[in-house]
Amino acid sequence: MNNEWWKEAVVYQIYPKSFCDSNNDGIGDLEGIISKLDYIKNLGIDTIWLSPIYESPMEDNGYDISNYYEISSLYGDMNVFDRLIKEAKKRNIKILLDLVANHTSTKHKWFLEAIKDKNSKYHDYYFFSKTKDEKKSSFGGEAWEYVPSLDEYYYHYFGVGQADLNWQNENVRKEIVNIMLFWLNKGVSGFRLDAIELIGKDLKNNVIANGEILHSYLREVMEEVRKSYPDFFTVGEGWPNVEIMLKYTANERKEINELFQFEVPTYTWKEGPLGKFSCVRRSNLELKEALNKWQQGIHNKSYLPLFWENHDLTRSVNRFGSLIYPESSAKALAAILFLEEGTPFIYQGEELGLVNTVFENLDEIKDIEAKMLYKEYVEEKKLYTDLEFLKMLNVGCRDQGRLPMPWNSSLNLGFNEGFKTWIKVPNEYEKMVASSQILDDNSVYSFYKKLISLRKGKFKEILINGSFKLLDFSSTNIIAYQRLLNDKKLDVIVNFSDEETKIELKNLNIILGSHNKKINKEYTLSPYEVIVLSSEV
Ligand code: GLC
Ligand code: CA
Repeated sequence: MNNEWWKEAVVYQIYPKSFCDSNNDGIGDLEGIISKLDYIKNLGIDTIWLSPIYESPMEDNGYDISNYYEISSLYGDMNVFDRLIKEAKKRNIKILLDLVANHTSTKHKWFLEAIKDKNSKYHDYYFFSKTKDEKKSSFGGEAWEYVPSLDEYYYHYFGVGQADLNWQNENVRKEIVNIMLFWLNKGVSGFRLDAIELIGKDLKNNVIANGEILHSYLREVMEEVRKSYPDFFTVGEGWPNVEIMLKYTANERKEINELFQFEVPTYTWKEGPLGKFSCVRRSNLELKEALNKWQQGIHNKSYLPLFWENHDLTRSVNRFGSLIYPESSAKALAAILFLEEGTPFIYQGEELGLVNTVFENLDEIKDIEAKMLYKEYVEEKKLYTDLEFLKMLNVGCRDQGRLPMPWNSSLNLGFNEGFKTWIKVPNEYEKMVASSQILDDNSVYSFYKKLISLRKGKFKEILINGSFKLLDFSSTNIIAYQRLLNDKKLDVIVNFSDEETKIELKNLNIILGSHNKKINKEYTLSPYEVIVLSSEV
C-alpha cells in the first residue's frame, strides 16, 4: 500500500434516501446530494461514503441489490452519478460506495436463474439445501426460505429478500472483483464492505461470522483489484474484538484497510436479539477503558475507523449524551471521537447534534428489521403488546437514524419543497436545522467544523500518529486523554456528566473549547464542556 490517504480523511456517511429530495417524490436522490456538496465541503469533509445507490427493490433500502451495475431509478441514473463524481472531484471530495457482497436481492438475475434451474451455474452462487436447520435470521424468523420450484431452501442471514452469496464459489469472487473495478473505473475511491465478516461462512459446520477461510478470499479479491488500483480504500463492517480486527486489517496482512468495531458504539445495548431496544448507561470508567483498549490495541498495527453513529444506530446523544444538554453532549461526543487515533466517520445529521424522535404509532416505522422482529415477537410469540413494542422501537429502531435531514425551516425542513416524504419529518429537528447552525459560531455544526480543521491543520501529525494515554483526574465525571508525538502533547479534557466539575490545570494553553470560557488553574467545567490543551514536552 503506497498512499495511505485515508489516514488523513474525515468521512461523511450519506443515507441517500433521507438526505435531500430534489424532485419532490418524497425520496432523497443523487441530484439532492449534488446540491449539498458545498455544504459538505464547507464542513471540511474530504470523503463521502454513500449507502447503497444501486438498483434494488428497496426492501432494506438498497442493502438488497438487484443489479450492481445500475443506479436505482429512485435515486437517478448513471449520468447523474457520473456528474456526482465530477462535482465531488471538483471539490476534492472522494466517494466511497457501499458494496453489499454478502448477499443479493432475490430479484437479482443470478438468483432468478438459480431458482429457475438447478443446473444453472448460478445455483451454486447461493446456499441451497434440501433440508433446513435451526438457523435464525438476524432480522427475526428462520434463516431458510423454501423455494417450491426447486424443492429446496435458500439461506438468508438478513431478510427473506436477501439471499446469501456463496463465496466458496470462485466465480462469485470474480464477480465481486469485476464490480469493484467497474466502479473504481468510474472514479470512486473505495468501498465500505457491508457485513464482510459473514463471507467465510460454513453453514454445515455452523460457522457464520469470521470464518477463517474468509481471509484468503479477501486477500485474493483485494490483491486482484489492487493490481489496477493500489491505493483504493476499504472499510469493512464487522463486530470484532481487537484480535479479530487485526486479522483483517493488520498492516502486514494487506486484506482490508479498516474494520468497524461496534463494541463501543453499542455499549449501551443489552445482550440478546432484542438488546438494542434497551439503553443501558455505562459508567465513564467503563467507557474510558473501552476507548483505551481499542486505541492501545490498534496503535502502530493498523488504523481504526472512529464512529458513534451510522444508519443502523439511533442518535448518539440519546445513547451516550444527555437530553438536558443535547448540544453540549453532542460536542463532547464529537471531541472524544475526533481527537483519538483513527479515521473519523460522521453520519449525516450527527454534525447537527440530531436526537431521536418519538414514533407515535407502528405505521410510522418503515424498517424491515423492525417489521420482521415485530412479526416474530409480537404476532407469533406474543411476547409484547403493540404499545410495548413501539416503546422498544423508539429506543432502538434503525429508523431513528434515517429521518430526513433538516436543511432549513421551510416545509419538511428543506428535505424537499414540502411534498410527501417516505418517512416522517420529526418536530424534534426544528430547532436544529443546518441553515441556522451554519451561521452560529457556537452551534454543534461549527464545533465539528473546528474539530475537522484541527485534524487538517497544524495538529494533523499528532492526531494521526501520536500515542494515546488516558489522563487521570480525581473526578469520575471526567473523560480525558493525551496524545503525544515527539515533543508535542495534546490534552483532551471532557466533563462527560450532567454536573459542574472542578479540576486543576497546569497547562493553560487552550486550543479549542466548547464553551468559550476563560480558563484558569482552578477551573470549573460546565456539564459536557470540552477543553483541548496543547503543550511542548
Ligand atoms: C448491514 C447494513 C444494514 C443492512 C444489513 C444487510 O448491517 O449496515 O443496514 O440491513 O447489512 O445488508
Ligand atoms: Ca427524489
